[in-house]
Amino acid sequence: MTFSKVGIIGAGTMGSGIATTLGQQGVACVLMDTTDAAVERGMGAAKKFYDRAAEKGKMTQEAADAAYGNIEGSSDIASMAGCDLIIEAIFEELGVKQELFGRLNPHLSDDTVVATNTSALRVSELAESVDNPSRFLGLHYFNPAAINPIVEVVKGDKTDDAIFDRAVQFIRDTSKKPIPCKDSYGFAINRFFVPYGNEAVRLLDEGVGTPAQIDRVAQECMGVAAGPFLVMNLVKPKIMFHAQRNLGPHGAFYALAASLAEKGDSDYEFEIGEDASGSAESDAVIADRLRAAAFFPVLQSLDEGVASAGDIDMGAGLALRFGKAPCELMDELGQDETARIVGLVTDAYGHGTPASLGNVGSLRG
Ligand SMILES: NC(=O)c1ccc[n+]([C@@H]2O[C@H](COP(=O)([O-])OP(=O)(O)OC[C@H]3O[C@@H](n4cnc5c(N)ncnc54)[C@H](O)[C@@H]3O)[C@@H](O)[C@H]2O)c1
Repeated sequence: MTFSKVGIIGAGTMGSGIATTLGQQGVACVLMDTTDAAVERGMGAAKKFYDRAAEKGKMTQEAADAAYGNIEGSSDIASMAGCDLIIEAIFEELGVKQELFGRLNPHLSDDTVVATNTSALRVSELAESVDNPSRFLGLHYFNPAAINPIVEVVKGDKTDDAIFDRAVQFIRDTSKKPIPCKDSYGFAINRFFVPYGNEAVRLLDEGVGTPAQIDRVAQECMGVAAGPFLVMNLVKPKIMFHAQRNLGPHGAFYALAASLAEKGDSDYEFEIGEDASGSAESDAVIADRLRAAAFFPVLQSLDEGVASAGDIDMGAGLALRFGKAPCELMDELGQDETARIVGLVTDAYGHGTPASLGNVGSLRG
């Protein structure tokens, strides 16, 4: 194994999921949080996952017990001292993470690699809080981390090449699919997935279609297993609000849809009715706009070298269950039709045409 003992800081949704997948892969882990109660909750979630898997016959009870035995709990930061990889998965607040890294520094050896599971913050900025930023990178697992196969491996400005390669290998060794990424807001996957959801809300705000209609059209035009409103209800609209707001620095197209901005951090869900019907004209507008909202950011990411077309499509398929991944779909539609669709974004928001549009037809090589 590329790393022999992994420390996970934060035993919430993501930290416990990361411990669960690593424990199952035979990796010794220490799951740490601020209180014993939080550690117990995280350990309990891992145990429940293994026991269910055993009940369903997906693993033997012996294997379930062995996986659980690989996870040790702790509420003491000193427990990180014996780990050669530490994955931080605490609250998504810059100051809170910086404070933690400051306290972690005395427990790191010269060889320890430190990773953050941040979705929204810049890896390179967080790296400045550890003593050796060249040994720091992003490991962005997707929820639910115990089963979602994709992990974005994010290279900060100062991440050492050999450390980065070792982290990519670790993700492979632990049976996940790595997507090597540049440090850019939204990395490779949220960069297009979140604006596609945001565009669905814009369509609703403008009265172009109902949530049920938009979800149906998304299934038809992108081959998604579940439409954007159903998915946003699952991940919670307020999480989409934060994720979209984080993409703001990429420019005007990435601004929040009016009702997402208005409802902000409040707890609510979209009402998805039963009637998914709509006129052929409105269906066509919805299909164009959803595709444009996914294609444009993907082409920009390709221009910026955030990730490869093959990896973006793999992430779309495996992490998001897009039946038609964006690059594959653009290649299939061809340059003229893709240019028409992407033009809907560039014209409306004053963005330049992505140079990668010129490669459509052979984006996947
Ligand atoms: N939830 C998701 O869908 C998702 C997906 C990908 C990435 N992320 C990112 O993963 C990170 C964790 O998110 P989450 O959803 O698991 O959050 P969460 O709120 O479920 O869990 C965070 C945990 O961190 C603990 N914690 C806070 N400060 C701590 C400290 N100083 N030391 C030790 N433990 C501390 C909390 O007690 C809590 O148990 C965030 O950066 C988030 O953006 C979340």
